[in-house]
Order: sequence, then structure tokens, then C-alpha cells
Amino acid sequence: MANSDAVSRGDLIVELADVHLKLASAAGPVNILRGIDLSVGRGETVSVVGPSGSGKSTMMMIMAGLERPTSGLVRVAGHDLGGMDEDKLARFRRDHVGIVFQAFHLIPTMTALENVAIPLEFAGRRDAFERAHAGLEAVGLKHRTTHYPGQLSGGEQQRVALARAFSSEPSLLLADEPTGNLDGETGAQVIRLMFDLAKNRGATLVLITHDPALAARCDRAIRLVDGLIESRDGTKANLRPILASGV
Ligand SMILES: Nc1ncnc2c1ncn2[C@@H]1O[C@H](COP(=O)(O)OP(=O)(O)OP(=O)(O)O)[C@@H](O)[C@H]1O
Ligand SMILES: [Mg+2]
Repeated sequence: MANSDAVSRGDLIVELADVHLKLASAAGPVNILRGIDLSVGRGETVSVVGPSGSGKSTMMMIMAGLERPTSGLVRVAGHDLGGMDEDKLARFRRDHVGIVFQAFHLIPTMTALENVAIPLEFAGRRDAFERAHAGLEAVGLKHRTTHYPGQLSGGEQQRVALARAFSSEPSLLLADEPTGNLDGETGAQVIRLMFDLAKNRGATLVLITHDPALAARCDRAIRLVDGLIESRDGTKANLRPILASGV
């Protein structure tokens, strides 16, 4: 997608405007995000790079409605998250956001199928188990539905997590270092799958990564430093200087 400034408002899936987050700590208040402005269009893929502690995961939690900013505007899929109570936020997440973490976060006492189906059941979907079956098939795990996470390899667990994240057909997929716990080839498979699923379903992808090659697969990269977007870019051609400056 072209520069999102040129995209009409209705096609924006993520809008952050002057987002600040200040948290208390033993050493006094810490400014974790210091004025983030970011727009991401429908179907766009954006990587988020930057040093450890720069606020990448925190920014993602704010996009997911899992963390509230101290100030600023957060609008996702057309919904202003600032005005929502906890129940509304939970419904918003269920309907619009899929999340994949580095550590998979599957429920160990549930099978692969249950891990994908249970959130759908909570959402009141009568076809939860059929959808979960289809989701696991889409990530190549039809033959692993009755396995528990402990009986699955890391790559398989992350594929279950992907099936779960996509099962509600979210408009926004958030991935926080999704290959951080996987070896190179397994990670590459998970990434291919994630990009394919996002593309096929028209989902917007925001991907945190320390891997420059992976960041370069996205339509554009943004780099966070010390709670601020230091550089941004609308074209792949200009990604290299951002990535070369140290992720
Ligand atoms: N609940 C909290 N209370 C106080 N400080 C916090 C809290 N959560 C995060 N921080 C601080 O906010 C800063 C940003 O953290 P964040 O996890 O967003 O970084 P990150 O860019 O994702 O880093 P990494 O690449 O290591 O995952 C860090 O300095 C962290 O210590
Ligand atoms: Mg992080």
C-alpha cells in the first residue's frame, strides 16, 4: 500500500495520535511512550524495530486495547478505544484483533483444537469447533488437533497460536517477535504462513522484530527509540537505511 497519509480515513486500521504512556516505578515516574503518531492502512504490513526497552511491545499492547495510554488518541478499526470500558474493550479485541507472542501462550491443559475453539465459543460462535478445525487445517495441523501444547514442537505451537489469532477474522494482526523462540527454518515457515494468512484475509499486520530481513518483508518499517518513532518510511526502497542503523 502507498503512503498511508494518502489513504482515506475509512481505510485506516490503526490510528495513534500523540500517544503518551507514563508509569510509576520505584525510581519515580517513567515516560515509556512520549508522543507516538502512527497510521496504518487496511491490509498494510508494518514492521516495528528498535532497541530493547524502546517501547515496541508497550505500543502494541495499546493497539490491542490491553494497555491504556496516559493521553492521546487510539483508534483501531474505526473504534475509539479511549471511550470504552473493560467489557467493550474485551469485545473489541475479540472481534477485531489477533495477537501472536514470542512465547506462544497456549493453554497447556487444552488440545490444539480446544485452544483455537474455546475463544470462539466464548464469543458465542456456534460453529466454534468447525472453524477451529478449518483454522488448524489452514496452518497444516489437521493431524495434530488432539495434541496438547506439550506434545507439539515450537513451530507447531506457534502455528496453533496463528490459527487462534486468525480464527475470528481480525482486521488487525499483532505479532510480537513471533519467531523469537524458533530456529531459522521453522521461523521462516511460520513467517510465510503468517504473511499468507494476513494477505489472503485482508488483515493488517503489525510485526515487532529484531530481524532486519524479516522487517524488510513488510511494506514499511518504523523504528522506535526511547518511546518515540525515530524514523518511518513509506517505501521498501528506503527501508535499508532504517534497518542498517541498528535494530
Ligand atoms: N508495567 C511497567 N511498569 C514500569 N515500566 C514498564 C512496565 N512495562 C514496561 N516498562 C518499561 O517500559 C519500557 C518499554 O518496554 P517494552 O516492553 O515496550 O520494550 P520493547 O521495545 O518491547 O523491548 P524488547 O525489545 O526488549 O522486547 C522498558 O523500559 C520497560 O522496562
Ligand atoms: Mg518487547
